[in-house]
Amino acid sequence: MSKRLGFAALSAGMALTLAACGGEGAGGSGGAGGGGAETEDLTIGVSMPTQTSERWIADGNNVKEQLEGEGYTVDLQYANDDIPTQSQQIDQMITEGADILVVAAIDGTALSGQLENAAANNIPVISYDRLIRDTENVDFYVTFDNFEVGVAQGNALLTGLGLRNEDGSPGTATGPFNVELFAGSLDDNNAFFFWDGAMSVLQPLIDDGTLVVKSGQTSIEQAAILRWQQETAQRRMEDLLTSAYNDGSRVDGVLSPYDGLSRGIITALQNAGYGPTLDAQPQPMAVVTGQDAEIASVKLINDGVQSSTIFKDTRLLAEQAVAAASAFAEGNEPEANDTETYDNGVKVVPSYLLPVETVFADDIQSVLIDSGYWTAEEVASGQSD
Ligand code: BGC
Repeated sequence: MSKRLGFAALSAGMALTLAACGGEGAGGSGGAGGGGAETEDLTIGVSMPTQTSERWIADGNNVKEQLEGEGYTVDLQYANDDIPTQSQQIDQMITEGADILVVAAIDGTALSGQLENAAANNIPVISYDRLIRDTENVDFYVTFDNFEVGVAQGNALLTGLGLRNEDGSPGTATGPFNVELFAGSLDDNNAFFFWDGAMSVLQPLIDDGTLVVKSGQTSIEQAAILRWQQETAQRRMEDLLTSAYNDGSRVDGVLSPYDGLSRGIITALQNAGYGPTLDAQPQPMAVVTGQDAEIASVKLINDGVQSSTIFKDTRLLAEQAVAAASAFAEGNEPEANDTETYDNGVKVVPSYLLPVETVFADDIQSVLIDSGYWTAEEVASGQSD
């Protein structure tokens, strides 16, 4: 308990006062027993993986704005998907007196040293969206229901192929369909949850022959794309088309766990003559799934090129991160809604999971535009303002 209540920026004596005060009025805007920390005295270090994906830019901005709105000082850093950079940024946050850390890890297993340092300085650590693994020094996890993301992606692939309707009832198509499978980065714990969720839907149909993975690449190791790189996904799709579809057959569907990968996959397919953009012997675009509702992909969905994405409202995730930080600042435990699922290899990390929504072209207006996530203009242009 005292660990959570003692802040690096406070003297040991003050930390003890905080601990002695318990939850009531300790820290936060009420101050600690009249002499403690106001929120503006507290600095929150926010470590994000990369700015190459819109999703993380939105996350960083939302967390920063909302924390500043509560009166905290925020040190937001992006690490260019480079593990040493992220480690060094976190070390520096600690040196410069961060009181709480919010971390979306690049490699979920690479931060043990930094987090030991955080623990030694009594700094609570909130794992943001991606679970930090192999350490006891992570105090809370805010994320989406990652298994359900995968289930939704598997279902969206079946719906796109016409095998299943959106309400889960059987569709008019019967197959068999050729599909290929992509997974995320193996150093990201989420990649396994997305894969397991999707395969819980797809495996029975692979087993009964409705879906055929012509490449034979059906393990997550074969399907994984390191660091979730668009170009790597494009290359893998090109290789699959050359090796498994050079006999006149076509790939009907592609399971893709992230919009960036989907765009690489779509480029490879377009270059091979799929979709409406090439007029020489046009053939339909394959059904390609996605995740994150990135604006470039929302436009592709609107234009009938990408089939679907999974919307994760980063504004709500930021709210949960801020709620968790505020709870720690006040000497309380954040409220968890899952205390079983996320074992990081050392302990089960108490978590708050948010729900997700599948978006097909028909849902763009109601889910993304009406909620203010994207404007109609942004969807039409494919660029955020
Ligand atoms: C996130 C996804 C994202 C992926 C690539 C995952 O950890 O949960 O939303 O698509 O990383 O950035």
